[in-house]
Amino acid sequence: MATVSLAAVPDGATVFERNCSVCHSIAPPPKTAPPIAPLANKYHQRFQTKAEGVAHLMAFLKKPDKQKSIDPQAITRFGLMPAIALPDAELRAVAEWFWNQSNPAFGPGGGRGQGWRNR
Ligand code: HEC
Repeated sequence: MATVSLAAVPDGATVFERNCSVCHSIAPPPKTAPPIAPLANKYHQRFQTKAEGVAHLMAFLKKPDKQKSIDPQAITRFGLMPAIALPDAELRAVAEWFWNQSNPAFGPGGGRGQGWRNR
């Protein structure tokens, strides 16, 4: 059923370089999309577990949706992200990589006032 290639398990960082880094920087300043580290911080605030965060991001990458956006203001500023057509294995790899990019140095969501918790 699933189309799993026999190639090595995709590496999230490589998937990011190839498919996301044209628009997303990892840390501020932004390119044409919000930087990854503050977005990952928002995911850590919103979702209790990595599994939930990964599931949300995989769904978002397949079908970006204003209603489901973690940061509707980003859509106002940058526009809605285009859907990313990649095999599930690559979406999962990049989503797991993304979850691990959270970095308190950039504050919760790059915003202020909500305090840092749960890493
Ligand atoms: C053509 C430019 C572009 C590409 C390519 C792109 N993005 Fe985005 N992305 C955006 C923009 C613009 C936003 C902010 C607006 C929005 O949320 O739709 C965004 C939002 C996001 C968000 C926040 C989603 C949320 O829950 O609100 C994440 C996470 C993300 N991108 C990850 C990725 C990853 C991972 C890839 C590669 C697989 C990728 N993006 C490729 C432009 C891009």
